[in-house]
Amino acid sequence: DASDIEKGTYPHFMLKEIDEQPFVMRNIINQYQNENGDLKLDDDIRAAMKDADRVYIIACGTSYHAGLVGKQLIENIANIPVEAHIASEFVYNMPLLSQKPLFIFISQSGETADSRAVLVEVKRLGHKALTITNVPGSTLSREANYTLNLYAGPEIAVASTKAYTAQIAVLAILAVDSARAKGIELDFNPLQELAIVANAMEVLCDQKEEMEKIAREFLAVTRNAFFIGRAADFYVCLEAALKLKEISYIQAEGFAGGELKHGTIALIEDGTPVIALATQEHVNLSIRGNVKEVAARGAYTCVISMDGLQEEGDRVVLPKIHPYLTPLVSVLPMQLISYYAALHRDCDVDKPRNLAKSVTVE
Ligand code: G6P
Repeated sequence: DASDIEKGTYPHFMLKEIDEQPFVMRNIINQYQNENGDLKLDDDIRAAMKDADRVYIIACGTSYHAGLVGKQLIENIANIPVEAHIASEFVYNMPLLSQKPLFIFISQSGETADSRAVLVEVKRLGHKALTITNVPGSTLSREANYTLNLYAGPEIAVASTKAYTAQIAVLAILAVDSARAKGIELDFNPLQELAIVANAMEVLCDQKEEMEKIAREFLAVTRNAFFIGRAADFYVCLEAALKLKEISYIQAEGFAGGELKHGTIALIEDGTPVIALATQEHVNLSIRGNVKEVAARGAYTCVISMDGLQEEGDRVVLPKIHPYLTPLVSVLPMQLISYYAALHRDCDVDKPRNLAKSVTVE
């Protein structure tokens, strides 16, 4: 049928979409670049960001996890306070808003009902909204004041991969554009850095055998799994755990390394798989300490680090990229490991049970 043709030589859409990520990064660079090689973004969006005293990011699922990274990017680069919220909570449990809020809706499909419910309320209150979506003309795009497109191409697999990295890339571009609008001097060219990311992603896409081995060794028979990290790595761990849950049905948790000792470490037994991310220089020592703590309690540990921070025994060393953009490359092994774990467990990778690609009911 038609879907087989689109899959090409790939056994699953998910694997195809993981592999498309370097191309998506390059596509985003082209779409957000003018003739002079500078950033190209809507003047209205720049003005809205400049005008905002606080940004509220609203999203669900994987898009929410991209929003957490986006919060860090906008705060660090553009110096605007940002809150990231789960749409289904925000709508019934709204925090006190700032004087001049700007709402950013992140949604691959642009059709998620939970997010739309917030947008309806935000408009009723008279606030401005920007939608970041992969589907131009979608409901969330039409109903918001502004739209930024992801240019990731159709995402078919229920588990989101290339939309997540596209969302983070576009959020980085938005953050830099906003910083420039506010006259902040930056030593960070997002288009150049995204080109480096695309190359790094390609390197990782060529390491499928190692990812398959890790999946087989750590996740083929286990009942549960933990992903630990600190700072930006923590956000990626949340996404890694969600990916694994969605397609392999392994009970997985993403955890902040330092928070483990406050409860969750009680779950570590002999052989519990713990996958740790170590891409953040300022917390490298402390996450290494957390790995030792869980290993001492019997955990079976796998460390994924970044070039320059690696230690002997690390299973994957990611190519070095700009510290702002590490989630774009650190998530890739996580996506592949989840994919192979699901294969080993005979799960329906592209259409996991109980899930829908786009949830249009609240
Ligand atoms: C569904 C999908 C998730 C997705 C979430 C948000 O639950 O299964 O993969 O992250 O919706 O979707 P959106 O289209 O709003 O990004």
